[in-house]
Amino acid sequence: MKIAIVGTGYVGLVTGTCFAEMGTDVYCVDVDTQKIENLKKGIIPIYEPGLEEMVKRNYQADRLHFTTELKDCLNEVEVLFSAVGTPPDEDGSADLKYVLDVARTIGRYMTKYLLVVTKSTVPVGTAQIIKQTIQHELDLREMDIPFDIASNPEFLKEGTAISDFMSPDRVVVGVETERAEALMTKLYRPFLLNNFRVIYMDVPSAEMTKYAANAMLATRISFMNDIANLCEIIGADVNMVRKGIGTDARIGSRFLYPGCGYGGSCFPKDVKALVKTGLVNGYPMRILQAVEDVNESQKTILFDKLYKHYNGDLKGKKIALWGLAFKPETDDMREAPSLVLIDKMVDAGCQVTAYDPIAMTEAKRRIGDKVDYAKDIYDSVVDADALVLVTEWKEFRMPSWNAIRKLMSVPLVIDGRNIYDKTELAENGFIYYCIGR
Ligand code: UDX
Repeated sequence: MKIAIVGTGYVGLVTGTCFAEMGTDVYCVDVDTQKIENLKKGIIPIYEPGLEEMVKRNYQADRLHFTTELKDCLNEVEVLFSAVGTPPDEDGSADLKYVLDVARTIGRYMTKYLLVVTKSTVPVGTAQIIKQTIQHELDLREMDIPFDIASNPEFLKEGTAISDFMSPDRVVVGVETERAEALMTKLYRPFLLNNFRVIYMDVPSAEMTKYAANAMLATRISFMNDIANLCEIIGADVNMVRKGIGTDARIGSRFLYPGCGYGGSCFPKDVKALVKTGLVNGYPMRILQAVEDVNESQKTILFDKLYKHYNGDLKGKKIALWGLAFKPETDDMREAPSLVLIDKMVDAGCQVTAYDPIAMTEAKRRIGDKVDYAKDIYDSVVDADALVLVTEWKEFRMPSWNAIRKLMSVPLVIDGRNIYDKTELAENGFIYYCIGR
């Protein structure tokens, strides 16, 4: 079976590579010539554990092809996945420019039946717009070529993208015809040995499922952040509360970790887009608006703790910042809480020295010399008036507190992910702040 994946971002590249790994012949298409040339050389644009080797292996096996020419693949493939970006525009709605560009090219150049599957997260109704766009182009050509549309939202997480794709909890597929369902069943058959379910439904429901899943997960996080903040005020420990509620099977223990706010390419964008969809359709999404508001204020909570500790006098303070990426195991800094914190600290006159195991190149690209960059965790804390932890990378979990206390100017730790033991920090002579404990 031959398929094309348009867009070689996170979702597109992982999808294409994983299908190739299962023996499918895959064309990965992107308009970015440099990116395509790099991929052919095995240079991948993102940091994702295991991806580089898998790309190289399948490229060498001639199952994975990279091209900038979408129109040439259209004669070759039976199924085309659209995984191009849907960045938020100024008002928070998803910008469909790239999605519609792809649809127009398909309509202009397709020569035989094609199943067009949307993988990007797109507002409900987008598949219909794609269908109309393709049909419009075919009408202009006075051609009558059959095609189907489908929606197959992707739920992979950065950092564990390959295992998420290979062994997902479920695959959601929205289809309109039996032909489309049969093709999708054929495509996913090799994965079924990994024991998951393909859930078929109508197209709008599949589109909505992706938003509802991300919105629910973001809601859990903001809810726990609210609970954590209240715990702190009334003297409860949110870790205990989290364990106490997470053992209820109806609630479950995952995604209940309070912290300094969620970031990344999905939650912030999708929550905003669903709020916008609600407004446009005359149904304000009140809970989600609150989820978004709580997250915005949570991103400043570490700064607030620092500000309070120093009674607002932060001018000239040296701050060590651990973790720039929005979460561990990625170099992605999109909507990262670290960015908000850095802005606030720099505005208040702090001198920030940051360290991240993977994301420092990305940070230099984004914020340049707004902060200094340390070569390791110990280098970052020299003469520091505070150490602020933003991302829970494994290598931050068991530092030598003895060495750190000697290097710091003031033994103050502000832990945005609750990864340290309060007693251990106190025994080592640190003033320790965390979230909701
Ligand atoms: C998310 C969804 O999980 C995934 O299904 C979807 O396809 C894309 O969006 P991702 O953005 O890669 O994936 O990261 P995820 O691991 O879900 O974390 C998102 C954010 O929530 C991170 O900033 C993380 O730090 C935060 N988070 C997560 C918490 O603050 N607490 C938690 O308990 C879990």
